[in-house]
This record gives sequence, structure tokens and C-alpha cells, in this order.
Amino acid sequence: MAEDFKGQPRLPSFAAPRRYDIFLKPHLTACLFSGTATITVDVLLPTQFLVLNAADLCVHTSSVSLTTSATSSDTISPLSIELVEEDEIMVLQFGSQLPLGESLLKIDFSGTLNDQMRGFYRSKYEYKGEVQNMAVTQFESVDARRCFPCWDEPAFKAKFKITLEVPSELAALSNMPVSDEKINGDLKTVSYDESPLMSTYLVAMVIGHLDYIQGLTTDGVQVRVYTQVGKTDQGKFALDVALKSLNLYKDYFAVPYPLPKLDMVAIPDFAAGAMENYGLVTYREVALLFDEQFSSAYSKQDVAITVAHELAHQWFGNLVTMEWWTHLWLNEGFASWVSYLAVDAIFPEWNIWTQFLDETSSGMMLDALSESHPIEVEIKHANEVDAIFDSISYDKGASVIRMLHSYLGADCFQKALASYIKQYAYANAKTEDLWAVLEEESGEPVKDLMNSWTKQQGYPVISVKMNSNKLHVCQEQFLSDGSSAAGTWIVPLTLCCSSYENSKKFILTSKSDELDIDDLILNKKGKQETFWLKLNTNQTGFYRVKYDDELAAGLKYAIQADKLSLMDKIGIIDDANALCVACKGTLSSLLSLMDAYSMESDYTVLKWVISVSLKIANVVDDATPDLSDKIKLFLIKLLESPAEKLGWDVKERESHLDTMLRAELLMALVRLGNTSTVDEGIRRFYIFFNDRNSSVLLPDIRKAAYVAVMQKCTSSDKWGYESLLKIYREAHQSEEKMRVLGSLASSPDKSIVLDALNFLLTDEVRNQDAVYGLNVSNQGRETAWEWFKENWEYISKTWVSTPLLSGFVKSIVSLFASYEKSKEIEEFFANRVKPTFERALKQSLERVNTKAHWIEGVRSDDSLAEVVSHLADKA
Ligand code: BES
Ligand code: ZN
Repeated sequence: MAEDFKGQPRLPSFAAPRRYDIFLKPHLTACLFSGTATITVDVLLPTQFLVLNAADLCVHTSSVSLTTSATSSDTISPLSIELVEEDEIMVLQFGSQLPLGESLLKIDFSGTLNDQMRGFYRSKYEYKGEVQNMAVTQFESVDARRCFPCWDEPAFKAKFKITLEVPSELAALSNMPVSDEKINGDLKTVSYDESPLMSTYLVAMVIGHLDYIQGLTTDGVQVRVYTQVGKTDQGKFALDVALKSLNLYKDYFAVPYPLPKLDMVAIPDFAAGAMENYGLVTYREVALLFDEQFSSAYSKQDVAITVAHELAHQWFGNLVTMEWWTHLWLNEGFASWVSYLAVDAIFPEWNIWTQFLDETSSGMMLDALSESHPIEVEIKHANEVDAIFDSISYDKGASVIRMLHSYLGADCFQKALASYIKQYAYANAKTEDLWAVLEEESGEPVKDLMNSWTKQQGYPVISVKMNSNKLHVCQEQFLSDGSSAAGTWIVPLTLCCSSYENSKKFILTSKSDELDIDDLILNKKGKQETFWLKLNTNQTGFYRVKYDDELAAGLKYAIQADKLSLMDKIGIIDDANALCVACKGTLSSLLSLMDAYSMESDYTVLKWVISVSLKIANVVDDATPDLSDKIKLFLIKLLESPAEKLGWDVKERESHLDTMLRAELLMALVRLGNTSTVDEGIRRFYIFFNDRNSSVLLPDIRKAAYVAVMQKCTSSDKWGYESLLKIYREAHQSEEKMRVLGSLASSPDKSIVLDALNFLLTDEVRNQDAVYGLNVSNQGRETAWEWFKENWEYISKTWVSTPLLSGFVKSIVSLFASYEKSKEIEEFFANRVKPTFERALKQSLERVNTKAHWIEGVRSDDSLAEVVSHLADKA
């Protein structure tokens, strides 16, 4: 009978937990913990079994009992307790059918504070000159079961009453405020208020030496930022963003923040970027801490987005929770989208919605692979869940929400969200529940429209042709390797013609359609040269556009004449790049298009020009080594003039975006091998190395200089490498350590690359950070692959249960660009692949093949040499 419960995606639903009374006692030096779970279980259907989750726990079998009535005389013990390791469940069989209704299940257990950054784990930090352990939890997605036995699925919401016994000098935090604290000698027993109904993956505890700063929202909710002792100043920015976001969300969602307090804590070892635990949000240090003097503008933005994202989850995710992991995107896509809404309101000068196109583009990049997956994805086993925290759930998710938001209008959308939150508060929802609410509010067929985007993988490219005054549009699924597939979508199309006032909207419901745009192009005749037509106005749609030659020429004119919005300028170059990679456009026409951006000075647009430039520079090394220098020369020319305008030093009162642009431009010029930039970077590095307080190398531009230093570093003169290591070792700030790590492996010298990679596996680099050191150049990639194979055993064991293992696989595999290599890599993994990184591996291999295909395309571009000569000479 217990067999029936094995290999199932979900726990049986004949019993459900209503309340957990959890007692935990961590031993911070021995790295152990013990605990008791007293769970109020509601038996809903006749059964002799209770089936719940437990993993890596030592369950004290003799302690397990079920009290079936108020009089404790009715306490029974299970006949058998079976722990099914591969399903992470525990099956309790009783001698007879359990009485329906509530009983108390009591279980004693113990476990190890592990080093894997999941479940109940330990993080190391320094306190008063000594290394100490902090006890931390990370339960999403399926790791609460590693801390206490529980019904570890999002739909089993229950109330939690937590009690901790910890050393009395430590801060001990959990989701709710402290209700009682008793000190007995070196230990204290801290109990917390009972929580409202919530899912297990949101339960959290943090125990360690911590300081805090605090503030109050307009509603009087107490918000604190906890950091290591002495670092609270670096929490001020996040606290400010948190207070402002909470004030904003309570209005936007029209529901107050659901708990009496919110704590946010910086954790020194943390697998993800941040985690939205209810009332106790945990962060990687770089995602929470900001230092006016030592942090970059980019970090500032990252902290703001991360805080706004996690706090959005307090409503979207925590108060209303996805019914099952298939609907993970409801959590992540929404929190991502909402975070931009909040950051835009708090920092309007950041132009964050234009930057949002980063998300759309990452989503599109992943979703153009055959190895992508639909937003709503079937989950058959707990070990498949972590793999879907990817660009599809986050970026495509957020982007299709933006598409719908723009289609329905802001007011209608907000009203619907507010009523959705109200309707499903303290409960769970599926994707279609949200569509139903939106449908009711708007009167539009939201469900049909959106099903085509969330139940089907991929997205279309819309080809447009003009034929007299008719616009012919045709959709086809877009795949990066240029192959075709059968998908069709209901596409909300928008277009503008020669002016943003002159616009149209319509829904494409079939493969192709013809559209009369007579009214829009009345003024075309006679003014042929100023005519332009742009589809997907401001890139709100999740699709690409391929224009016929005439329309493409019109857009090039519009870019040069500065007629287009920033978002449209970005969209045009992003689509052109993707079409070129898929060999649906030539590299020569992409380069000519880029030339039209030579007068651009805006950060958001130039960032795209830069990222496309670097991709091109990377592929031409492999595709056309003969033309590679000339192409790079053209790209350098393109970026040099905005770089010269900005210079290396911050101007007084310059904008946040210019500060970020400077960093991007200098880094790109270094990567493109521009000698004067590399030399200046090295010159400034010398000064900075000898005087760390010098202002010649402020945090924003530092990484460009570090990479310049590493590009010139060789095994016969390792000064650059040694100096950077010294900076790494002396750095107090995680952000600075990351800058160094991200530069070390960019040397062209193989033995330095090897040193840098080996360094990643030493004790000096935290496991959470190693993957950021895999920034290897084309010259270093073979070395990196050999190193990776040799160390696979160690790497796969060390990062086994973290999403970071996927990161390793992705970073290394994606360096390559040939069919042979992809085959070789596939063979290496044939008997090594595991479910946790299988998806990442397949996607990375597909990327390698796509690049190989692109290389073939570039090689067959007959006009490339001529176009490149023309562009390079002209520039
Ligand atoms: N819920 C996630 C954290 C998470 C990620 C848990 C993966 C389990 C597996 C959190 O809300 C999140 O999305 N964090 C992001 C940062 C955010 C700004 C996009 C992260 O960790 O990168
Ligand atoms: Zn999230």
C-alpha cells in the first residue's frame, strides 16, 4: 500500500496540515540541530496513512505519535514509518483508519546544518576577528523538508508557530515578531507570534550576530535591515527603497502589507540573489548592501530592483500563492514586472522601463531555442522545480504581463489585480484564475489571448511587407537556429507610421493577414524619404519583426533622423541582431544598421549597441578571422565618440545613466581591444593599486581597468594577476571581490587562465561566488573546458544541490561555437547528466549549435568584405 505513494508528483490530499508548532535548537559550533514538530493535521478522507515530506533528517521513530482527540489518552503510534529517499517523503501507516477531523501529529527529529545553502544551513562570517557560523534557512523551492517534516507543497497552507532555542547573545529572527523570550544561562528560548496561513517554502529563520537599522511605513509597519555587525550603514539605501515600495504596493494592490513587521537580512553565503520569505526576506550581500563610496551605480539599481521584487512577492506569492510549481511564473514573472513599476515610481530618472527590455530580450533569447519550455510547465517530480527558475518564468513571464498590461490599459489592469489579490488572499491561485479576474474586469477574451503565450513555448517573428497601401503581415515561430516550427499566436499588434500620433492596433489571429493602412500613409506620397513604419510600438509585444527592404530603409532613416523612441531604437537593433544570428538577415546589413546609431548618446540604447557589438566581435573571431580586426575597428569607432564625451572621470551632477554608460563603454572598448582604452585602464590601475583612496578609479569603471590589466597579463609577468588577488584578499566588500573574480580569467594566457580557474575552487572563494569567475575569453576556452572536465567530480559534488551547478555548465559550454565541440561536450555528459542541470545543458548545447550555424551564415555573406571596408574607412 505504501507503494502507491511512491514516484508521485504530489502528496496525496486525504490529509492536510492546519497548524505547525515547530521547535528548533541549532548547535552553531557542531553544525547540528534538533527539533520537534507538532502538527495539527486535518484528516479529510478515510485512510490509515499520513504521507508528508522529509529529507536528510533523522526522524526519531519512537517519538512519532498521533493524538486523535482532546483527551491525550487517544494517542496512537504508527505501525510503520517508511522514509522514501528518492521521493523525499515519509509514509506513516497506522493500524486502523484515522478519525476524520483534526489530530495532533508529533515528531522529534535532528539534522545537520549543512554547507549546501539550502534547507537549514550554516553561513560563515567574521565576528570580532573570529570565524563564526550563522544558521540560515532557504526553503524555496522544495527544501523546508530538510529542516522539519512537513507537507512541503505551496497549496498546503497552514499557520506556523515557531520557537527557537539559541545562544542568548545572538539575534534570532523568524517570519513573525517575537512573542516571548526567556533567558536561561547561555541559552534563550525565543517564541514568535503565530503566522497567518502560509506555504512552507516561505518559512524562515536566521540566527547570528547581527546589527540593524529600522524605519516605519506610512501604515506603521516596522521595517528593519539586518547586516553583519558594523555594516548597517550599507543597509540604508535598501531600507529606503523598502519603505517606499511597501507604501506603494499597499495602494497598488489595495491591500495592506499582511504582517506586523518586515526584516531584510544580508546573508554571507546565499545560493540565489534573494528570497522573499514572509516577513523575513534574505539576500546575498551584493543584492542588499549599498555603499555610497564603494558601490557602483549598477549595484544601486540592482539593489533597488531586488528589494522591490522581493517585497512585491509579499503580496504576489506570499499572500496569494501559486497552486503548484507549474504556475511559478505567477510568482516570478509578476514580481519582476511589479518591481519595475515600483522602481520607476521611486527613481523616474533611471528610465527603468526602457531597461526592462533587457528582460524581454533575455526571455526571447531563451525562448528561441527548441529546448525552451512553455511558461506553464508540467512538473512531475520535486527535482524538476529548481530548473524552471529561469528566463522563461521570470523574463518571458514579466514580458507577457507587460504586453497584456499595455493591451488592457493600466487602470483596468490594476483594478483586476487588486480584486485578484483580495479574492485569493491566504489561498492559492492558478494562471487561469488570474485570467478569469482580468477577463471580468476588462470584458476582453484574456484567457484565449494569453493561453497562446503561456501554454505554448516560443514566440513569433512577424514579417511585414508593404504593397501599395496594404500592409501584409505573416507570423512564423522564431527559432535561433533558423529552423521552422509550427506555433501560431494571438498577437496584439501595434504600429506607428511616420509619427507616434499616427498609430494603429489590431489583433492577428491567423497565420497571415492584410491590413489597410490607407489612413496612416496619406502623407507618404511626395515625402517618400521621410516615411517610416514601426511595428510593435515601444516593444510592448513579445514578438520580433522582420521588415522588407523598403521598410527597413525607412527605419534606418528614422533612427538617423532621431524620430524614434528609445524603446523602438532598441527593438530594431535587437530584432536585427536576432534575425542575423538565425541567418534570416546578413551580418553586413546588421553592421550597416549599427552605423545608423553613430550619433546615439543614450545609455539604454548604447547598451544594446554595445551588447550586439560584443556578440559580433566574438563570432567574427571564429567566422572570418581575416575580417575580424576591421570589423572590430568599425565597432570601436562606433563606441569611441560617446566614450570620449564621457571620459573616465565622473562629471559633477552627472546622471545615474551616464555613470552606468561610462562603465559599459569603457568595458566594451577594453574587450574590443582598443589600445588607448586598455593603456589608460592600466595607467589608472597602477595609481589606484598604490593608493586605494585615489579617485582615478572609482567603483563604476574599476572592472574595465581590471580586465585591461588581465588582458595584458602573461605568465612571464604575473604582476597584474598578483595585484588583483591582493585587492581581492584585502576587500571588505563582496561587490569588490566580485569585480576581481569577474576579471581574473580574462587573460589570453592559458596558464594564467588555469591559475584563475583553480583559484575559484579554493577556500578563498565562497561557493556562492565561484561561478562568477568563469568569465573566460575565446583564447582561454579550451583551457577552461579541460579544467572543467578534470574538476567535474569535485564541482558536481560541491555544487550538487544548488542552482549554481547549472551556472557552471552554462558558463563553460556557452563559450563554444562549433558542431564538433557541441558533440564532444554532449558525449562527456552522456553518463554524467542529472535532472537538476539537464535543461541548462541542453539549452547551452543548442546555443553552441546556433552559433555554429551563425558562423556558416557569416561565411556565406558575400558582401561582408566590401561593406566592412566601406564602414571602417568611413568611420
Ligand atoms: N523566489 C526567488 C528566489 C529563488 C530563486 C528561490 C531560485 C529558489 C530558487 C526570489 O524571489 C528571486 O526571484 N530572486 C532573484 C532576484 C530577483 C531580483 C530577480 C534571484 O535570486 O536572482
Ligand atoms: Zn522572485
